[in-house]
Amino acid sequence: MIDKLKELIAEAEAFTAQSKEEVEQFRIKYLGSKGLLKEYFAEFKNVANEQKKEFGQTINQLKKTAEDKVNALKEALESLEEDNGLYGDLSRPGEPIALGARHPISIVKNQIIDIFSRIGFNVSEGPEIEDDWHNFTALNLPEYHPARDMQDTFFIQTDPDILLRTHTSSVQVRYMEENKPPIRTISPGRVYRNEAISARSHCFFHQVEGLYIDKDVSFADLKQTLQYFTTEMFGKSKIRLRPSYFPFTEPSAEVDVYWGLETETDYKMTKGTGWLEIMGCGMVDPNVLDNCGIDSKEYSGFAFGMGIDRIALLLHQISDIRLLSENDVRFLEQFKSAL
Ligand code: PHE
Repeated sequence: MIDKLKELIAEAEAFTAQSKEEVEQFRIKYLGSKGLLKEYFAEFKNVANEQKKEFGQTINQLKKTAEDKVNALKEALESLEEDNGLYGDLSRPGEPIALGARHPISIVKNQIIDIFSRIGFNVSEGPEIEDDWHNFTALNLPEYHPARDMQDTFFIQTDPDILLRTHTSSVQVRYMEENKPPIRTISPGRVYRNEAISARSHCFFHQVEGLYIDKDVSFADLKQTLQYFTTEMFGKSKIRLRPSYFPFTEPSAEVDVYWGLETETDYKMTKGTGWLEIMGCGMVDPNVLDNCGIDSKEYSGFAFGMGIDRIALLLHQISDIRLLSENDVRFLEQFKSAL
């Protein structure tokens, strides 16, 4: 009988299983309530006295072997299940991550920020929901000033007037109120105007406005800065400044860059003139400085503002401004190779 037990021990030791069911069958066969161990334990009383000790030891050894086997196999199968089920095959190659593309507006905005940061301009931001003071009054546009009509405004609330900013000049006002000259800052951001939506204009768009204030800042400094910008941005250094009007600058000008007339696209873009209007600018009106707590007798400065959307349309030859806000991935994916 002891030999039979030893055989069973060897069998139990050699046992392997592929599934939990097999382990369970093994457990029932050896350790179950009608299992082999039960049978052999029942035999104990029939064993001759001098063999009892060896028999007892052997049967206990069988019990331990079977129990250890069941536990070890269960554990191994469970961890295998975890690998395959919960986590999958941990050694398989990862899923490729699809890279997105930057939005053309962000690409152009980042280029502009980069160009101005190289000559010491920092970036300032402000709220899109503005009060009348920061969007109009402080900028030399008092109530009932006719130039307020230059920018059709979305009002959120009247008395006091709360509105969606029509330009990021409002950020410049906030910056001047909070910082002492010298000031060199550009303010990128989204602006809103109550205009009919078409291929050429939208009720919201994006601007970058710049502000430079220090002692003895002159119109020549403005022109030099603009020329640096157009050279870096478009690779074109020929610009012209056409007299214009903005309430917050005096004198004011419209900036045109000479694009050239080399290709048919140049003709189309510039309507056959070779010149492209890219921004407004001027010397900050002394009233604006005083409104913002900067002494206009001591300091002077210049400001400029440009539309990012328009520049993105130009640079990428996009024919409809609405494409910029439709978020059609087929359109956006075309900018993967850009910055
Ligand atoms: N704020 C003007 C606009 O939105 C642009 C501008 C800024 C013009 C600074 C002159 C100086 O049209």
